[in-house]
Amino acid sequence: MLLGVNIDHIATLRQARYAADPLSPICEPDLIAAASACERAGASGITIHLRADRRHIQDRDVVRLRESINTKLNLEMGNTPEILDIALQVLPEDVCLVPENRKEITTEGGLDAAGQMRALAPTVARLQKAGIRVSLFIEPDPQQIDAAHQLGVEMIELHTGAFANATGPARREETQRLILAATHAHGLGLQVNAGHGINYVNICEIVKIPHLVELNIGHSIVSRALTTGLESAVAEMLALMRRTP
Ligand code: PXP
Repeated sequence: MLLGVNIDHIATLRQARYAADPLSPICEPDLIAAASACERAGASGITIHLRADRRHIQDRDVVRLRESINTKLNLEMGNTPEILDIALQVLPEDVCLVPENRKEITTEGGLDAAGQMRALAPTVARLQKAGIRVSLFIEPDPQQIDAAHQLGVEMIELHTGAFANATGPARREETQRLILAATHAHGLGLQVNAGHGINYVNICEIVKIPHLVELNIGHSIVSRALTTGLESAVAEMLALMRRTP
């Protein structure tokens, strides 16, 4: 199982101080250094979300990370012409299409692939024509998985937010939904990834879900990095991911 580290929250911290002075010589924390620390610790990729409101990742970050990353760049983006143009210029290895709502603190819910097939199809086609592998961030719902399959994307990322928030019997239900969804998607030939709300505790349940190829994890790793350092936080997560369930 591979790990993509989402470094958006590192950019959030930088923007809290340097939004108005991005070229300051002491502008920190530095995303390039952060990405390379993740890679040194064994991450398979770096994930960033270029939001329409540019609240954390900036256009310049996307270009600089593209140049410096040695593993792979996974760009999360809403389906808008502006961000699509940037993706086609920067050419990340992977794009994950996500829903985007200006008021949300972080991505809430999965993309309605089934309801937005017409809007998604040309975007998927343009990205794929440029050699980019496309993923859809969707709920663990068979209808959404079938839509992803019909759209011809290479991958889905199962939204694990409901699982992460659930407790007791609801947690068991959400786990079951993820297991069924992963099995269904794998049966259709889709690469199955997962992300959102995965942390150092619930990872032991996530590793039991079959067919998962890549996890995208941000908040828990960046939070732990504040006390242990980023390399150690990434290495610790990788060690938990690699423990046999
Ligand atoms: N995957 C996707 C598609 C996301 O939007 C996010 C949140 O930015 C993540 C993974 C990472 O979620 P978390 O920060 O909760 O680990």
